[in-house]
Amino acid sequence: MSIDSLTALVRTLPDFPKPGIQFRDITTLLADGAGLRELVDHMAAIARPLDPDLIVGVEARGFILAAALAHALGKGFVPVRKAGKLPGRTVGIDYVLEYGADRLELHEGQMPQGARVVLVDDLIATGGTARAAAQLLREQGASVLMALFAVDLPDLGGRQMLEEDGVATASIMA
Ligand code: PRP
Ligand code: ADE
Repeated sequence: MSIDSLTALVRTLPDFPKPGIQFRDITTLLADGAGLRELVDHMAAIARPLDPDLIVGVEARGFILAAALAHALGKGFVPVRKAGKLPGRTVGIDYVLEYGADRLELHEGQMPQGARVVLVDDLIATGGTARAAAQLLREQGASVLMALFAVDLPDLGGRQMLEEDGVATASIMA
């Protein structure tokens, strides 16, 4: 399946969750067996040569692809969650989103010192979420080898901002 065919499986819904936002909905791609496999295969081809220790996914949509990628690579999966969801002691960071503000948390002690991780999310828009997650991981002593996304919205400049922060970035669909 070509990247164009993969991209065609992502639908765009206007004015969600707020007026003016063109929401890129990956559920249509996830529901397509061939599309999901192709997407995860592309992500695995990028992440495998880095030989990460762990795959980190950002709640909620990031969990789906991060867990699939972790399985494909035979690596562990660590969740970065929105505030108040993790049951154990957490460390966290506040961040601003294209359509709001939030806080990300990680279980304290879940990131081994020097762990080499690939950070995964479904989409990068402003880059605020990924930047916050990468900062949190670094504060916990991890090395973020790459931030890997299914979809990039390049007009919002997130990828450039992340790269300026020293986080190598890749996406499957622009
Ligand atoms: C979406 C998306 C990314 C983030 C990208 O998540 O899954 O995590 O926004 O935006 P940014 O680059 O501007 O930070 P959202 O916060 O909507 O949460 P969800 O995954 O729980 O739907
Ligand atoms: N997260 C932030 N901006 C988004 C968008 N335009 N579509 C889907 N998820 C998003």
